[in-house]
Amino acid sequence: MGQPTPARSADWWRSGVIYQVYVRSFADGDGDGTGDLAGVRAKLPYLAALGVDALWFTPWYLSPMKDGGYDVADYRAVDPAFGTLAEAEKLIAEARELGIRTIVDIVPNHVSDQHPWFRAALAGGPERELFHFRPGRGPHGELPPNDWRSEFGGPAWTRLPDGDWYLHLFAPEQPDLNWEHPAVRQEHEDILRFWFERGVAGVRIDSAALLVKDPALPDFTEGVDPHPYVDRDELHDVYRSWRAVADEYGGIFVGEVWLPDTERFARYLRPDELHTAFNFSFMTCPWDADGLRAAIDTTLAEHAPVGAPATWVLCNHDVTRTVTRYGRADTGFDFATKTFGVPSDPALGTRRARAAALLSLALPGAVYVYQGEELGLPEADIPLDRIEDPMHARSGGVDPGRDGCRVPLPWAADEPYAGFGSRTEPWLPQPAGWGAYAADLQAADPGSMLALYRAAIRLRSVFGDGPLSWLPAPDGVLAFDRGGVAVVVNLSGESVSLPSYRRVLLSSVPLDSDGRLPSDAAVWLRRS
Ligand code: NOJ
Repeated sequence: MGQPTPARSADWWRSGVIYQVYVRSFADGDGDGTGDLAGVRAKLPYLAALGVDALWFTPWYLSPMKDGGYDVADYRAVDPAFGTLAEAEKLIAEARELGIRTIVDIVPNHVSDQHPWFRAALAGGPERELFHFRPGRGPHGELPPNDWRSEFGGPAWTRLPDGDWYLHLFAPEQPDLNWEHPAVRQEHEDILRFWFERGVAGVRIDSAALLVKDPALPDFTEGVDPHPYVDRDELHDVYRSWRAVADEYGGIFVGEVWLPDTERFARYLRPDELHTAFNFSFMTCPWDADGLRAAIDTTLAEHAPVGAPATWVLCNHDVTRTVTRYGRADTGFDFATKTFGVPSDPALGTRRARAAALLSLALPGAVYVYQGEELGLPEADIPLDRIEDPMHARSGGVDPGRDGCRVPLPWAADEPYAGFGSRTEPWLPQPAGWGAYAADLQAADPGSMLALYRAAIRLRSVFGDGPLSWLPAPDGVLAFDRGGVAVVVNLSGESVSLPSYRRVLLSSVPLDSDGRLPSDAAVWLRRS
């Protein structure tokens, strides 16, 4: 490891590279089959060498893991499978010494059914007010209080032995909180303070647009505005109070806001609300020049009026790995159409994922890199009896679920379990040949995905803070200039000639012998 990098300015979140750590699958420090904080601490030099500005940790709190930790039983405790609170504090401090900030993941829409509030509610206490408990419909209350569906499939209500029903927009083990209740609001502000006090620089907000429900809990009617639980106006008051808390600590927010309406999306990014939100329109866009250009233009246009930086995301722990997605006939992503057995060409997908990495790392704003993307990992097929994600079971077995992008990382080709660190089989099985993607092999190979990510992250400061201006380009080609650097991405079926330049800074594949850019490739060109 070289000299510690001095931490960047207070504006790191406007243009930084943020690496998403899915702790359970990152690195296993104690060998028990589950990734942990000791594993992350041991790999901090790797993350520093990759050059990232911050780490976003998916929830590391005490959890029965019915939804990979998004079912939180105690927001102030680290799950023993991952380590201790003291270790989390050490990790935050050690990362910071390397110039790497920490973002934690807060889950405000729901808690685990093992959370003390829900247990007390089940015991009939006044804590019921903190959730959505209702009698059922029908002569004997045998029908759910309304027709809402869980995001994971099936009804959004579960009936208790005493006859009442409770609301859960996700799994039954994730009861929704009642955001009308002042104690719920107070508790979350306290939780934010708890983590800011421990040195975290930011908070990712899970399901950020779902918290507030229409108190009448009406049936859902397609097209009726406002929606009974998505993007309700009352949410903005919540985030204004949160922002006041974050400002006391210089902390930032990134919201998980899935909204197709760009104007509604941008409301969350007003100067007194969230600093940033994930850009899912770019992530789900097919590998298509017109579509990507439109997604980029829309993104920049929706952020400009509120002065918030864009974020660029290719993948996360919920979606199909980029390499696999881009190697398919349908290169977009949609939860609704996920099925087993979709063929994918790994060589084509990898080639496109390399080009997409150079595209996203060149755009103005912050870039999120999900662990393993820098290794070019494909989506793995998980044996049916090992799938844990509730999306699989709740879809009646139709949806493969999200475990295929959550497989334990390969660190060392020749070690057991590809160097994940386990002495016993990891919690999710790694496919045969996983060692071929190992970080140690890739670190020694200048043509690897890891080498490309490292070079791109190191070089991307050449773009400065400059805006993007599109350059003329043939059909199927994206070309723009930022800060005197031309970025050309060729999504057409043929090689293309390049604008005049002084030097090739980086390319996803070698240029043709006549200097043309091959198909499904990208290049950064210094023009002066
Ligand atoms: C979004 C998270 O990214 C996902 O993994 C989780 O299942 C849901 N929110 C529910 O918390």
